[in-house]
Amino acid sequence: MTRPDIVPEHIRKLSPYVPGRSIEEAMEELGLPGAVKLASNENCLGTSPKAIEAMRKALDAGMARYADANATKLKGAIALRWEIRPECIACGNGSSEFILVLAHALLGPGLNAVMSRPSFTLYAKNALAAGAEAREVPLDAGHGHDVKAILSMCDSRTRLVFVDNPLNPTGAFLSRGQVNDLEKALPERALLVLDEAYADFSRERLPDMKELVGRGRTAVLRTFSKLYGLAGIRAAWMAAPQEIAEAVNRARQPFNMNSLAQAGALAALDDIGHVRRTEKTVWDSLDWLAEALGALGLKTFPTQANFLMADSGPFSADELAGELFRKGLIIRSLSSFGFRDKIRITAGLPEENAALVDGIRELLAKNTRSAPGV
Ligand SMILES: Cc1ncc(COP(=O)(O)O)c(C=O)c1O
Repeated sequence: MTRPDIVPEHIRKLSPYVPGRSIEEAMEELGLPGAVKLASNENCLGTSPKAIEAMRKALDAGMARYADANATKLKGAIALRWEIRPECIACGNGSSEFILVLAHALLGPGLNAVMSRPSFTLYAKNALAAGAEAREVPLDAGHGHDVKAILSMCDSRTRLVFVDNPLNPTGAFLSRGQVNDLEKALPERALLVLDEAYADFSRERLPDMKELVGRGRTAVLRTFSKLYGLAGIRAAWMAAPQEIAEAVNRARQPFNMNSLAQAGALAALDDIGHVRRTEKTVWDSLDWLAEALGALGLKTFPTQANFLMADSGPFSADELAGELFRKGLIIRSLSSFGFRDKIRITAGLPEENAALVDGIRELLAKNTRSAPGV
């Protein structure tokens, strides 16, 4: 007897998340001894050495016990650093977890969430998974969040407004004033979820987290995946009005942040040397890439993140990413984000950037076509 399909339609309609292709995949598929991955906005300098040491120590102590369910030490350190009360902080298994739990806790049928399109794909997906409506708003002409258009899509049934600042995949940035204006004009029952996954790399002044949280309208998401090089261990935190932090703490899994992640994140916060080296490497890398790609005739776009968006020249984005992959150079085509002629490149080490630019130069030299659509 076949069982009737019990998966509801709104779940059946979801597409699985498509991650960037891995170095191992490229090596195996192409038989290459190595590959360069500049596709997932990870830290090109790797994990904070202090975090590695702390995680080794934690591992040596054994993993038989459950983790601290409240990540007390990490929460205390974050509270001290950002001057936010621990009651307003939640720690978790990557900022992806907060996006999921916020949607799970605050959305449902008849309610909606508003987000830009393109922006981080998990916002719309988790709103839909919660049975709510995902209202996607096109970017403005500068490839940034269109604050007016976002506000025009909000109504009394809007509970979450997701804004990644800087914006993935374009690198565009909303100023402190723009964030404040957006927050002020939101409907009373809507919470602004300001996803600051890349804010650490911004060269502009950030919105003041303490003020935002204090005003009671905004939850700020921060991750250890980028600046601290801990994407593989899954660690993040959220600062939010107390009732929102409490709602997330009620709705989340009890041991959502494992012991290794807690130890690694706590040590990484204190590894100022690694943070400073990362910032300098990323900023130098982005400046170098913008200049080198510009010299090849590929336009790049201003960025406040650890990646940049560039035109794919005479190729479609998929063609360029595909050809580069065959050379063991992994970048991201933005066609799935709706940009068929744009790619996203993560800031890499000097030798990685040089290999990528050499690869693009070779492809351009072999190519006789003009730009797509020309
Ligand atoms: C805007 C944005 N938010 C959140 C995430 C996910 O971060 P985490 O690794 O903490 O889940 C990403 C990952 O690429 C991202 O681009």
